[in-house]
Amino acid sequence: MKRSVLKILILIVTLLSCTKFSSAVVRCGNCGRTPVPYPLSTDPNCGDQAYKIRCTAGTLWFDALNKSSYMITDINPLTQRIIIRPAGLSGKTCIASDMATEGIQLDDNLPFNITSSNTILLLNCSDAMLHLQAPINCSSNSICHDYINNNAPLCKSTSLCCVFKTGGSQNSYVVKVHINGGCAAYQSFVNLDTHWVPTKTWPAPAMELEWGLPQEPTCKLPIDCKPLLHSKCLVDPMNSGQKRCFCNAGFDWDPVNGLCRREKCPHGRGCKHQKKQTMLIAERLMDAVDPVLKEKATNLDLETMKALGLLAAACLDERRQNRPSMKEVADEIEYIISVAKGKVSAEG
Ligand SMILES: *[C@@H]1O[C@H](CO)[C@@H](O)[C@H](O)[C@H]1NC(C)=O
Ligand SMILES: *[C@@H]1O[C@H](CO)[C@@H](O)[C@H](O)[C@H]1NC(C)=O
Ligand SMILES: *[C@@H]1O[C@H](CO)[C@@H](O)[C@H](O)[C@H]1NC(C)=O
Ligand SMILES: *[C@@H]1O[C@H](CO)[C@@H](O)[C@H](O)[C@H]1NC(C)=O
Repeated sequence: MKRSVLKILILIVTLLSCTKFSSAVVRCGNCGRTPVPYPLSTDPNCGDQAYKIRCTAGTLWFDALNKSSYMITDINPLTQRIIIRPAGLSGKTCIASDMATEGIQLDDNLPFNITSSNTILLLNCSDAMLHLQAPINCSSNSICHDYINNNAPLCKSTSLCCVFKTGGSQNSYVVKVHINGGCAAYQSFVNLDTHWVPTKTWPAPAMELEWGLPQEPTCKLPIDCKPLLHSKCLVDPMNSGQKRCFCNAGFDWDPVNGLCRREKCPHGRGCKHQKKQTMLIAERLMDAVDPVLKEKATNLDLETMKALGLLAAACLDERRQNRPSMKEVADEIEYIISVAKGKVSAEG
């Protein structure tokens, strides 16, 4: 989005006098310069503990089973997707550098899985692979040969390679490699379409993971729910041994932003009034945006404007205790901008 538009929006939001209140559960601070969106957690004091990732020296890492780690290069909190860098080859061999863990294995008790957008090239395969049926393609004109020729010369001496697309239940959590039988190395690419014709320049290797939306945060004492405004610590009806911060009546759990959101519109005039006010603010906000820029705005830009509009509405809340503090507004704006810049980039 154009800087100038953002400046106008930020000015509008800032001009609205905002006072004391906290809206969301605690989002983790940046890792280096990379925002860590909710529910991902780099620390026991923030995010949701089921969604642990690691921040080491300003870089985010995804730790899989048996101590294999993969650098996180992108996070998209709106689609709940993470891009990791696959292991690659070990030294001057055609063997996966994560052979110690037999490739990538995710813990199936955790809410992360491998999406169906990955094309996996299996390299240095044994003849046993030839017995496998579609969707694994080990034919001599498979695109893996082209990849080897251009990008993995060390694998040239090996005769067999195969290709398959993720998405089956067998590879929701694993891409396996073996020293004896199967294939000894792999590479992964995101969103290569099925009719993709290989060229000299292959895209950067990447693997896409996704996370399931989080439930309400767990709690032990009422005070644990203080950061999640409009919630109470209650016994989880699905698991009586556990308590969660459930949103109060009139509010719904928003698992993407980690907050209790006022219900869209139940009955009663209060809600009608609220809705009208929000619409009014959104309209005024759009009026303030240069029409030419608005025409050029992408969907994401418009989403961003809407998010800022909602933030502005929160600031106008008549009830004082419902208003965010200036710092929270500043944090929220920074977060909205980071989302608007596209994905959260680990190397940005
Ligand atoms: C291919 O994999 C086998 C193990 O299955 C390994 O012994 C061999 O060294 C690998 N080839 C290369 C070129 O690294
Ligand atoms: C990975 O860890 C699991 C459980 O901790 C173990 O059962 C399995 O054998 C390990 N696999 C490898 C390849 O180390
Ligand atoms: C394997 O992939 C090649 C290249 O994309 C394609 O021409 C061929 O039809 C595929 N074979 C099978 C059995 O799907
Ligand atoms: C992966 O997780 C998502 C979100 O929980 C779920 O919708 C999807 O069905 C899962 N995919 C597989 C193959 O398990």
